[in-house]
Amino acid sequence: MTLSAAMPPDLRSDQALLHYISSEDPQEAEALFAAARELRSSHYGQDVYFRGLIEFSNYCRNNCYYCGIRGGNPRVERYRLSLEEILRCCRLGDLLGYRTFVFQSGEDPWFTEGRIVEMVEAVRKEFPDHAITLSIGEWGRESYEHFFRAGANRYLLRHETASEEHYRKLHPREMSLRERKQCLWDLKDIGYQVGAGFMVGTPFQTPENLLEDLRFLQELEPHMVGIGPFIPQADTPFRDYPRGSFEQTLRMVALTRLLLPRALIPATTALGTISPLGREKGLMAGANVVMPNLSPKAVRKLYALYDHKICTGDEAAECRLCMEGRIRHFGFEPNMARGDMAGWEQRKVPANAG
Ligand code: 5AD
Ligand code: FES
Repeated sequence: MTLSAAMPPDLRSDQALLHYISSEDPQEAEALFAAARELRSSHYGQDVYFRGLIEFSNYCRNNCYYCGIRGGNPRVERYRLSLEEILRCCRLGDLLGYRTFVFQSGEDPWFTEGRIVEMVEAVRKEFPDHAITLSIGEWGRESYEHFFRAGANRYLLRHETASEEHYRKLHPREMSLRERKQCLWDLKDIGYQVGAGFMVGTPFQTPENLLEDLRFLQELEPHMVGIGPFIPQADTPFRDYPRGSFEQTLRMVALTRLLLPRALIPATTALGTISPLGREKGLMAGANVVMPNLSPKAVRKLYALYDHKICTGDEAAECRLCMEGRIRHFGFEPNMARGDMAGWEQRKVPANAG
């Protein structure tokens, strides 16, 4: 199917996109979701890919105003998993059938480049065929190359908002959107499958900002896109701002599917947190990935980016079964394979490795 055949006719104009970003008409939204589902099925059928998420450290040197584990929050009980604990999570995940591990942390200075390389090499040695995804923030290009050579395949780094002006309202001065975007381009160039993404309903966000997010995604053409509602966290500067709209988040998922037909798009935990069937509805709006938690139960609650996060009291095996049941109930098929992007071919060596 061609892109234009599945797209509502005028989706390529800014005006039309802005209309769908803002429209609260449920029938229009449903038409958008149906088109997104059809396009998703044409590339991936009813399959939903499972990724095992390991949140290995909640230390963070950054101070994003929205994030619960920001370095400036003294109320967070900090933890850091040892390499052996991380490997134990992987072994459990492997037994449960996972073939993708996602290693996520704050920007924790203890995890130097050398320690990350050591972690990736250890996982790669024990699991030669699994996909290794890193979600560990901003590094220089050379570090990204070293992680890639150590065996990492994918990298998640949400851009958070593609508007300079909006970015400055969500982050302290030390952080820069230009650098973040540069990281994404570098990662892509090195040969990673790259995930960008943004929050819906962060303070001061306008429909035009969301349009910029979509235009940036079209330019970057990431392999994965994470989209979730902003949810306030009580110990952050944004504690008193309202959460993002559930419906608008679903529309942004659908629009992203329509603009990037083959992208892997998770139905995020944040979406499941603000509505009991949030993740299922995310899948019905065009998402095709879920990321159940593999972190040890003892530390789950401590990785609190936002309040009331779901799945913090369940064992990994329970999450796995729970998601499987939920998905099947909505007519989807759990797929435990690596689930690379349709049409993806792994490059063996970084582009400029000489
Ligand atoms: N609400 C929703 N999502 C959040 N994230 C961080 N803080 C919040 C929050 N308060 C998201 C960011 C980050 C990802 C790991 O979690 O988009 O990239
Ligand atoms: Fe670390 Fe937000 S403060 S990601």
